Amino acid sequence: MSSDVSIDVSSVSKIFPIYEKPHHRLLQMVSPRSRKHRWFREFQALHDVSFRIMKGETVGIVGRNGSGKSTLLQIICGTLAATRGDVRTQGRIAALLELGAGFNPEFTGRENVYLNGTLLGLSREQVQSRFDEIVAFADIGDFIEQPVKSYSSGMFVRLAFAVAIHVEPDILIVDEALSVGDEAFQRKCFARIERLRDSGATIIFVSHSASMVLELCNRAVLIDRGELLALGAPKKVVTRYQKLLYAPADRVARLRALYLEQLASGDDEDIGDAAGIPPGDAAAAHGASGDNEEQVYLDPGLVSQSAFRYETHGAHIDDPHIETLSGRRVNVLRPGSEYVYVYSVAFERTVMSVRFGMLIKTVSGVELGGAVSSSLLEPIPVVESGERIDVRFRFRAMVAPGTYFMNAGVTGRLGEEDHFLDRLVDVVVFRIPPDPGRIATGFVDFDVVPEVVPVRHAGRSE
Ligand SMILES: Nc1ncnc2c1ncn2[C@@H]1O[C@H](COP(=O)(O)OP(=O)(O)OP(=O)(O)O)[C@@H](O)[C@H]1O
Ligand SMILES: [Mg+2]
Repeated sequence: MSSDVSIDVSSVSKIFPIYEKPHHRLLQMVSPRSRKHRWFREFQALHDVSFRIMKGETVGIVGRNGSGKSTLLQIICGTLAATRGDVRTQGRIAALLELGAGFNPEFTGRENVYLNGTLLGLSREQVQSRFDEIVAFADIGDFIEQPVKSYSSGMFVRLAFAVAIHVEPDILIVDEALSVGDEAFQRKCFARIERLRDSGATIIFVSHSASMVLELCNRAVLIDRGELLALGAPKKVVTRYQKLLYAPADRVARLRALYLEQLASGDDEDIGDAAGIPPGDAAAAHGASGDNEEQVYLDPGLVSQSAFRYETHGAHIDDPHIETLSGRRVNVLRPGSEYVYVYSVAFERTVMSVRFGMLIKTVSGVELGGAVSSSLLEPIPVVESGERIDVRFRFRAMVAPGTYFMNAGVTGRLGEEDHFLDRLVDVVVFRIPPDPGRIATGFVDFDVVPEVVPVRHAGRSE
């Protein structure tokens, strides 16, 4: 293998035996080889996957659930054997696969740092010299002296990640583990991954977050039903992944065939309508509506973890989401552009004096702004039971790069007073990606236009 190749995956296939009943595994073990009957059926999780990753690359693996991503990573790490094909790697590998792999649940965090560090190839002295840094990074307080079986999954991943990056691996492999950590910890991890990347390590990670792949990776891989379906520029691969994810069931096969064909021919053009995507969608996806797809898209990994619905009183808000002006669902927005916050409300009783509302908040809960559909003076006088009303709030995303949460609410007159009929908190989340060209400061962009004019001193003689 040439010295600049870090990971060489060559025609890898994986077949798992599937036993219908647990005791069939035993029966298979004891049944004579001569017997025709097999106590299992075969399931092929990977089909002839080949690709090469060069040293220093950061590669994101995307794909639907159950497509074989974790299986592939396990084979690359050597914790699982390929049925056919082989994988060659160069250098020290640190991997975060399933939670807890490589950790002994009975040992304390401290003991596991030593265990794991030495498993990853450090000497005891090396672990010792890095121990304080590892613990500081994990930031789990006194839990470091507790058996790790008492850890929350977030604490687990903090410690595992801290060890993995402090062994200074040549190859870091991360299987979604980071999604367990809270947002602040994730940011810290990304910063470290970037540092590791800049120091020349090879990084390969599975992510359902398109923005993470776009931000961190120089290449991406799309795996679908065990097959390599796309390989190349992150934007191209993520676009194909998202089209596959949101394609109607009857179009999936055509899309898959198209992508396989494109992969085989090395044709990098991404053709929307050739795969049966309506021309409108394809045009919108290619930015024909004025929104640039590179910056404005739907990140399926960006969903609210804190969504909450209050008790309803005769109305139900359905499907709140953000669209571009051309109707494409998005949650990664370009600052300064216009979008529409959309939801639909079903009324289960007749209500007077109805109004709808929206609110945008920061991660820490600061209410930045919102609106109601009409003032107190002009509500909808009456909505009949059984009616449905679509609500659309057009807004301009005049906020700083960051993550934001949206509420939705509908109020009406119950008895003498206005009450919430349905109210959803943090139900939609959107992100504004970093913008190096930004001049506004703080959360809200007031569209400030600075003018800086050097003034010559009037009385000054030359
Ligand atoms: N040990 C096993 N025995 C049998 N089948 C398995 C085994 N491990 C994985 N599979 C199957 O192989 C397929 C691929 O699984 P894998 O975990 O690699 O998918 P994935 O892409 O990582 O999915 P996810 O996004 O849900 O993590 C799945 O259908 C899974 O059920
Ligand atoms: Mg997986």
